[in-house]
Amino acid sequence: MRLLLVAYPGAGKGTQATRLAAHYGVPQLSSGELLRAEVQRGSRIGKAAEDYLGRGDLVPDELVLRVLSSPILEAAKNGGFVLDGFPRTLSQAEAAYTLAQQSDVELQAVVYLRVGHDELLRRLRARAGQEGRSDDDDITIGRRFEVFENQTEPLLDFYDRRGILLEINGEQPVEDVFADITGAVDNLVG
Ligand code: AP5
Repeated sequence: MRLLLVAYPGAGKGTQATRLAAHYGVPQLSSGELLRAEVQRGSRIGKAAEDYLGRGDLVPDELVLRVLSSPILEAAKNGGFVLDGFPRTLSQAEAAYTLAQQSDVELQAVVYLRVGHDELLRRLRARAGQEGRSDDDDITIGRRFEVFENQTEPLLDFYDRRGILLEINGEQPVEDVFADITGAVDNLVG
């Protein structure tokens, strides 16, 4: 299973990726989590990425690819992955496509979780109170929404043209979203 989740911040990518990875028996590869871990470790990549994360801007492709290329290729050799947050721009999708072609591990399904802005804001503000993630303040959330609209939304057409885009109502309880995703993925991938 080689699956990608694409959605606005707060739509539930991480929540669903964890469940989907357990369900399909493959690792969850979250670009945001991996980048935050680099920052936490104080690595060179982490130091270079920190300011972008703090502003809600995208980290440069070169750094993201350095963090993700090996885990993706490794997971692909061992049965697949659930990707959460990468690719996130057309240039990343093209780089990932080239990488995938070399190893015959192209994506099989891309899930877009549809959630309205009011609900996204409600979820992120609630999380800010519980977890204190540094990019969950209102100004940075606004920037992350803008970045999604300008740089990530064009990906939806890119994958739709390849016939692998599945649009799911992400505004339902977690278990219902999960059931809709697995139903649609199993139907597409077989
Ligand atoms: P990333 O970590 O990917 O963050 P994000 O896209 O902003 O998404 P979130 O983690 O905020 O939300 P989510 O959709 O995963 O929702 P979640 O399940 O947590 O990226 C962070 C930063 O890293 C970026 O801004 C960028 O700087 C950098 N980065 C990452 N990838 C990059 C890339 N490829 N290129 C360049 N830079 C990159 O849920 C949110 C909340 O809602 C939780 O509290 C959850 O419990 C709750 N919730 C979930 N589902 C439901 C539901 N169905 N009903 C009610 N509540 C729900």
